[in-house]
Amino acid sequence: MKIIIINGPNLNLLGKREPDVYGSQSFDDFFSSLQKKYNSIELSYFQSNIEGELISKIQETGFTYDGIILNAAAYTHTSVGIGDAIKAIQTPVIEVHISNTFAREEFRHLSYISPNAAGIISGFGLKSYELALQSFLIP
Ligand code: DQA
Repeated sequence: MKIIIINGPNLNLLGKREPDVYGSQSFDDFFSSLQKKYNSIELSYFQSNIEGELISKIQETGFTYDGIILNAAAYTHTSVGIGDAIKAIQTPVIEVHISNTFAREEFRHLSYISPNAAGIISGFGLKSYELALQSFLIP
């Protein structure tokens, strides 16, 4: 099974960025532990701060991978282009957020990802990614 985690802007700063909201673990450390725990899955990871690069990666993986776990970060709330990309592909996309976006500012309540996502997981810290991964394992 081939699954990719795609992270959007500023998520390269996890561990350093607003640790009270996003925790103190770096994504690289978390990703290594996830790979070890789920070693039967071909799990890969891509991060970009650039909207077009995220769209290209969604297109590139969206017809051959079994699942995409997407945290589009701030682009969640602004990007018609990423929303359209998800609509265009065949691979199911799980929308993930580390924080509970509905418990935060109102502008974070709007998502261009949700209408075309297979599911949404928000508010469980980095565990949100693991829960999304598990959703692909449950028949
Ligand atoms: C986030 C929530 C977004 O509102 C924010 O812009 C992020 C991270 C989250 O994982 O909680 O950068 O997607």
